[in-house]
Amino acid sequence: MKKTIVITGGAGFIGSHVVRLFVNKYPDYQIVNLDALTYAGNLENLVDIQDKPNYVFEKVDIVNQKEVDSLFEKYKVSGVIHLAAESHVDRSITNPNEFINTNVIGTANLLNATVKHWKDNFDDKLFYHISTDEVYGSLDDGGFFVETTSYDPRSPYSASKASSDHLVRAYHNTYKLPVVISNCSNNYGPNQFPEKLIPLAFNNIKNKKPIPIYGKGENIRDWLFVIDHARAIDTIFHNCKIGDTYNIGGNNEWQNIDLIKLLCKIMDEKLNRAEGESEKLITYVTDRAGHDLRYAIDSSKLQNELGWKPSVTFEQGLGKTVDWYLENEQWLSNIVSGAYAGYYESQYNNR
Ligand code: NAD
Ligand code: DAU
Repeated sequence: MKKTIVITGGAGFIGSHVVRLFVNKYPDYQIVNLDALTYAGNLENLVDIQDKPNYVFEKVDIVNQKEVDSLFEKYKVSGVIHLAAESHVDRSITNPNEFINTNVIGTANLLNATVKHWKDNFDDKLFYHISTDEVYGSLDDGGFFVETTSYDPRSPYSASKASSDHLVRAYHNTYKLPVVISNCSNNYGPNQFPEKLIPLAFNNIKNKKPIPIYGKGENIRDWLFVIDHARAIDTIFHNCKIGDTYNIGGNNEWQNIDLIKLLCKIMDEKLNRAEGESEKLITYVTDRAGHDLRYAIDSSKLQNELGWKPSVTFEQGLGKTVDWYLENEQWLSNIVSGAYAGYYESQYNNR
């Protein structure tokens, strides 16, 4: 094996797509999937590649420095792609400390381990930190987030991600750790946990349950197909300028209400329902506390300097996503039981 690369959070939504891409595309890399398997981690996401000779799973909690250090003693790691995080804004509002522990302390522990194990030789090493557009705050109407936009995080989730970004840059400046950061917009696609808007709405439409829309549904997000995010991560990992930041986005802004209406239309067609039937399920509920109005990413640096661009339109990506969820009912029903049922009850019951 030429290189050993640790991908943290590889059992989660985006991480599993990154692991799959790297395992299949780079047979001479050893890919170590480091994941604590929280409620959001699911090894079922990786059944198709779990027996490949260049793939190994390690159950490690990044909040535990000793566990992280042991992994770096076991493997001769040359690259880290760090996705492990608590990722759901609503959960960060009810339980912020979980986010501070995983996203801030966990990232610091990984940085400490890389500095300790790489300090004699930083050649051909890279710590790649995966971040979010939410660190830049909320846009009103015009304008886009660029790489130099000032940080203005407004939820416990985005504040914890912003803190981790600052730590990564501080370790680069102080210890010369070779790092790169990318900040991506909202992802959608197969394997997304049904607490996030699109898979939650899919599941409710399918089961003819109310689709909860926060506030007036006017908030805007910039949606990117998860496989295009994984492709961007591959491009950046192999071609980035050390110390730089790259924004990743689909130039694909949708008001929540319009997106949900499109999803309803696609699902009416695929489920042979009468036109307009699923839209009747739309239900406006109490808004999210501190709900950011609009995110929009300018990804021209990544496009112009590294040649990446999205491979699918939103309509194609959303169609593929709906097909995947329809074909993988067991995956969804394994999740939409037990602990998820309790979460759903407490999140939406009083709205
Ligand atoms: P996810 O919640 O689906 O997956 C997170 C993964 O991290 C899970 O497998 C979980 O088990 C693991 N994990 C959590 N705590 C851990 C710990 N203490 N130790 C080890 N593993 C732990 O998240 P996602 O949506 O795939 O997001 C992945 C990353 O991408 C996150 O860093 C997130 O901030 C970032 N991001 C997400 C989006 C998006 O739209 N989902 C957009 C931009 C950036
Ligand atoms: O922008 C990138 C971020 O996108 C990532 O960093 C986060 O990890 C990821 O979770 C996502 O955050 P959002 O808060 O934008 O995603 P979510 O799917 O939770 O919500 C999308 C929009 O839909 C948001 O405006 C809130 C709204 N919403 C969400 C849910 C779950 C609803 O109206 N109803 C809902 O039930």
